[in-house]
Amino acid sequence: MVSYFALAGLAIVLYILYVFIINPYLQYRKYLKWGKGSFYPFVGVFYGAGLRVKQYKDVDHHLKHMYDDGSDPKIYVENNATGAIIKISDPEYIKEFVQLENKAYQKTTLLIDNIIRLVGQGIIFSEGPQWKKNRNVLSGVFHFEQLSKRVPSIEKITKEVYKRYIDSGNVKNVDVIELFQEITAEVVIQTFFSNISKDKSFYGMSLSVALSYLINSVGKQISTPFYFLFRTNFFKWGIRESDRKLNKQIKEFRQMIGDIINERIKEEEELEKRGEQTTKEDLVYYLKKNNLLGVLSLDEIISEFMTFYVAGMDTTGHLCGMAIWFLTQHPEIKKKLQEELDANTDYSQNGLLKLPYLNGVIQETQRLYGPAGQLFNRVALRDHMLKDIPIKKGTIVKPSPCSVHRHPKYFEDPHSFKPERWFNKNTVTPYTFIPFNAGPRNCIGQHLALIEARIMINYFMKTFDFESDPNFEMVLNYAFLIEPVDKLRINLKLKENPLIYQ
Ligand SMILES: *[C@@H]1O[C@H](CO)[C@@H](O)[C@H](O)[C@H]1NC(C)=O
Ligand SMILES: *[C@@H]1O[C@H](CO)[C@@H](O)[C@H](O)[C@H]1NC(C)=O
Repeated sequence: MVSYFALAGLAIVLYILYVFIINPYLQYRKYLKWGKGSFYPFVGVFYGAGLRVKQYKDVDHHLKHMYDDGSDPKIYVENNATGAIIKISDPEYIKEFVQLENKAYQKTTLLIDNIIRLVGQGIIFSEGPQWKKNRNVLSGVFHFEQLSKRVPSIEKITKEVYKRYIDSGNVKNVDVIELFQEITAEVVIQTFFSNISKDKSFYGMSLSVALSYLINSVGKQISTPFYFLFRTNFFKWGIRESDRKLNKQIKEFRQMIGDIINERIKEEEELEKRGEQTTKEDLVYYLKKNNLLGVLSLDEIISEFMTFYVAGMDTTGHLCGMAIWFLTQHPEIKKKLQEELDANTDYSQNGLLKLPYLNGVIQETQRLYGPAGQLFNRVALRDHMLKDIPIKKGTIVKPSPCSVHRHPKYFEDPHSFKPERWFNKNTVTPYTFIPFNAGPRNCIGQHLALIEARIMINYFMKTFDFESDPNFEMVLNYAFLIEPVDKLRINLKLKENPLIYQ
């Protein structure tokens, strides 16, 4: 009897060993042939992340410096509790991956299922036919010509937010990421609904404050043990009072967005009846004009709005915040950019596009410290070959932008901030610069993001003198994006004859 139990015990121990140590290690070893990696049993990728934040003040240090020894790894392999995670760092393999992305992979829902509860299955989180339909409908709105019509509204919002900071006297230790996010948040709102939401409030909060609050709240939920035991279901059940309250608020908020959309549709219908031209070329107008209101349901439009808010507000705000921080660290680059901007008076999209230094600074910021340093996890739906790498079903695979962006074969002196390297765009090898991912699932909002970035930085540099707090230390870790752990602290001083008052 005793030996029977002992045998059973042994079997269980062996099984656990196999699932959590031997199998992940074998997987890891197999893929290691194509690159570099690090393995920590059970805790894998999370443990490594903690170590690197402590040691290098950058959670992605290993991915950014993998070529420093002169080698040419195609991938970096890490592990989670049960398997290998492959981060692709070679442009040829990235090219192959993005072509397979929609067929052979699916986004994993771990860590994002709770935000989906709030924002819905928008273009980022959907797959297959649903994704295809939404992408087709929305791509019209995000065409360059269509977006050019948004420029006056982006300029207006930018000026308003800068003025608000000046008027409030809050110009010391400004978290410029937050400052830029106020602008990008409002841009998403107005791109969808023009100014109709201006006088709307949710429990006394403006639309953007309410959305930030909701996003933070669902984000906080997943850092509880309940999430790891029951995933997002636990919060849906509403066992805790706080969860019930949030569930109610999510429902009410989505309803309110639905009402705003309906109100905008009605506004346009009445204009049409009177035979008048609209002054509001927003998403609702675009959908109506192109008879697309029936193609996307109300719920789908709500989800797209929330998705764009989450994806467009955070990322572009970070990009500009990091660009400003970089400029404080490189006075000679800051001076050259300032001279270029001061000499220019054409603030149209084409005017700003022609400024090589401005565009170089934005590209370099994206290359070295793009907010999406890592992309969403993708899990293989079947065994297949990624070029010569046999990928096993269930394996997590994704491109690693922050690695390939620092590949010395494609970027000379890869760790240096050199806007000049972008003056001749034709020299960039395909799939080596992927701040917005690549292939069919690339970021639909990339043109809007860059238009916003150029406007925000132009107005910023012609309105403020700025320097960073000397005690600020840049430590990068993952929150939703790769972010400074401490709030960025930049001191602003109003220039003489600032652009926002001209
Ligand atoms: C929105 O803008 C129009 C002019 O385009 C103006 O008449 C209207 O009052 C504004 N609405 C709000 C809520 O600010
Ligand atoms: C861990 O990685 C394996 C293999 O890549 C994957 O199948 C599994 O879903 C991952 N587990 C979690 C919790 O992400």
